[in-house]
Amino acid sequence: MAYEFITVSIEDAIGIVALNRPKVLNALNLALIDELVAELERLDRDPAIRVIILTGNDRAFAAGADINEMAEESAISIMQKDQFAVWDRMRLISKPIIGAVSGFVLGGGCELMMNCDLIVASETAVIGQPEIKLGVMPGAGGTQRLTRAVGLRKAMEMLLTGEPIKADEALRYGLVNKVVPVEMYFKEALQLAKRIATQPPLAVQAIKKTVHKAEDLPLDEGMDYERNAFYLLLASEDRQEGMKAFLEKRNPHFTGR
Ligand code: HXC
Repeated sequence: MAYEFITVSIEDAIGIVALNRPKVLNALNLALIDELVAELERLDRDPAIRVIILTGNDRAFAAGADINEMAEESAISIMQKDQFAVWDRMRLISKPIIGAVSGFVLGGGCELMMNCDLIVASETAVIGQPEIKLGVMPGAGGTQRLTRAVGLRKAMEMLLTGEPIKADEALRYGLVNKVVPVEMYFKEALQLAKRIATQPPLAVQAIKKTVHKAEDLPLDEGMDYERNAFYLLLASEDRQEGMKAFLEKRNPHFTGR
């Protein structure tokens, strides 16, 4: 598939998608998001792929929505384009997405990062929601996901001042999983992806979905959801293999059935 604004590569069972508008710090124009979501959906359907990495380059994961494009829009024209319907499709990706981020992670870039299930950041990452400085506010989940991730007070501070935080602070607040030197962030994400790719895919996807339910459901409904997902996994071949391998003292080989 030929894309203009992203590149795609495959390593073992890992699909690697990189944002590719380096001259504008990977500013997210509408066409880039269209390409990105179409590719994530394609990788999600591909049985050979078990984990997805989403990355940018060392200088920028993404410096936000494309301000040139946005400056042209009126409230009505932007609403009619309904760009967030495309963003919403990212929530339905069933395979884990690992964000490998470095440099500027701002505005829509931060919102895109928060669509990832796990995040490895470079020490150089600066992460924030500067929309208020442009007279607007986040529109792709920045107020909702940031608040869930870092808590109400820190989210208020970041959103109302528009000032970004550095990677080590993001780590302290649980906004990212790991911070490593810039030469290492992609390698570290790849290693994590390979580790998860050896796990039974049905369990991986069931866990991803069930953990996300913890953000939406009251505890008793979440517990019910978990229990049903647990029962369902008992019907999988990989469950037979996992338990048999343990009893036979060997490594399991999971097939996703
Ligand atoms: C369009 C952008 C851009 C953006 C950078 N560029 N960010 N173009 N949209 N969001 C372009 C610059 O115009 C410049 O182009 C080139 O990238 C390099 O950027 P510089 O500003 O020269 O680099 P630097 O001085 O290092 O400053 C980096 C920066 C700054 C601090 C990240 O570029 C910046 O503040 N960018 C905007 C960040 C922002 O406000 N993001 C939120 C957007 S609103 P030229 O042609 O001059 O070389 C948003 C809403 C989301 O995201 C809504 C949901 C999708």
